[in-house]
Amino acid sequence: MSAPPLFGPAFDADPSPAYDWLRAHSPVHRVDFPGGASAWLITRYDDAVEALRHPALAKNPELADERWRRSEMGLPLDHRPGLVASVINRDGADHARLRRAVTGAFTPRRIRPVREHAERLTVQLLDRIAERGHGDLVVELAYPLPMAVICDLLGVPESGREELHHWALVIDSSDDTDGSLVREATDALEVLVRALVEGKRRNPGPDLVSDLIAQQERGELTADEVTSTAFLILIGGHETTVGLIGSAALALLTHPEHADRARTDPGVLAEVIEETLRLHSPLQNATWRFPTAPVEIGGQRIEPGDPVLVSVLAANRDPARFDRPTEFVLGRRQRHVAFGLGPHICIGAALARIEGEIAIGTMLRRLPGLELAVDPDSLRWWPSPITRGLYNLPVRISP
Ligand code: HEM
Repeated sequence: MSAPPLFGPAFDADPSPAYDWLRAHSPVHRVDFPGGASAWLITRYDDAVEALRHPALAKNPELADERWRRSEMGLPLDHRPGLVASVINRDGADHARLRRAVTGAFTPRRIRPVREHAERLTVQLLDRIAERGHGDLVVELAYPLPMAVICDLLGVPESGREELHHWALVIDSSDDTDGSLVREATDALEVLVRALVEGKRRNPGPDLVSDLIAQQERGELTADEVTSTAFLILIGGHETTVGLIGSAALALLTHPEHADRARTDPGVLAEVIEETLRLHSPLQNATWRFPTAPVEIGGQRIEPGDPVLVSVLAANRDPARFDRPTEFVLGRRQRHVAFGLGPHICIGAALARIEGEIAIGTMLRRLPGLELAVDPDSLRWWPSPITRGLYNLPVRISP
């Protein structure tokens, strides 16, 4: 018996049947990716938890086998030292040092103005839809809000934001079959990130990039680590939150009974965000891991250098862990792994939750007669094997 397809529009729209098959028949499954790389895909919740915490599953891509390195599934390492030297690609003491380097950006004092700007911007974005009587919640809310938040956090001046947004969009959600569009966007973003860092060297401010430069000047970070960290926060903190906001809006448009409760009860709103993270995990696969020694997970032996992907989406829909796993159920007690676990657990989780609650809470309060303008089955999900989100979410306001 062979595994069902793990790529293509049918899988993107409803990955559950394929994940159910894998969990039952091949829970640690060898997958060949279109770009030429192969990886072991982990789909059961308990195996996912073990893998995310496993000390012999490292993040440094230099440990990967030759096929993976040639396939450009990650960034082409040899060519981009200024983009890959960040916390997500490091282990041990280096990882701890790079993680500490960004924590200052997430303190309540730093987050307060970011949050206030997010609240004002959300009102403006939604008022445009309200005036028109119809719009697209992904294009007009889910994209621009996280981009503005990340730019505030990094200290990107207003004049540089549009171009950054344009190229980040290409990386997030392009239908890129041969990788050339993503390569072009990565080139452009590298130039923009370097220009941002040089600008902040001359003119520092109360932002993350200026913090990183100060750490470089104290000898705590290299120049490549400064640009790589800014790049990681830009990409990692943007597209995931776009996915969260779009999927949460869809969940409420298709479950008006939850929308009514979430409109007035902040506790219910927080549950909506958690259940969206579980059911539509915006980072559907955690990032690549590479064994430093032979590892056994779910009965499968994995050799050193063999790439491993943990499907947090499949784990979050595992019926052994969650009752009625494909339904949107508020108030679940079991913890999901949408933000990962272990040493690489998401740094921006609290910020992402704040953004989700601002976007969805404001949407419910300001656009009470909101409804979907299309059949939910016609909506298109990104084709990415890494992220999960909607391209569009057309809505209208009923009179
Ligand atoms: C809904 C939104 C988000 C989701 C679902 C998400 C998910 C994740 C996951 C699953 C990981 C672990 C990856 C792994 O172990 O391979 C991770 C790591 C990370 N996330 Fe997020 N993330 C979100 C938002 C953000 C935001 C807003 C930021 C920054 C502003 C951010 C920054 C990071 C960073 C820097 C790491 C790497 C941590 C490390 O390697 O130690 N994320 N995220």
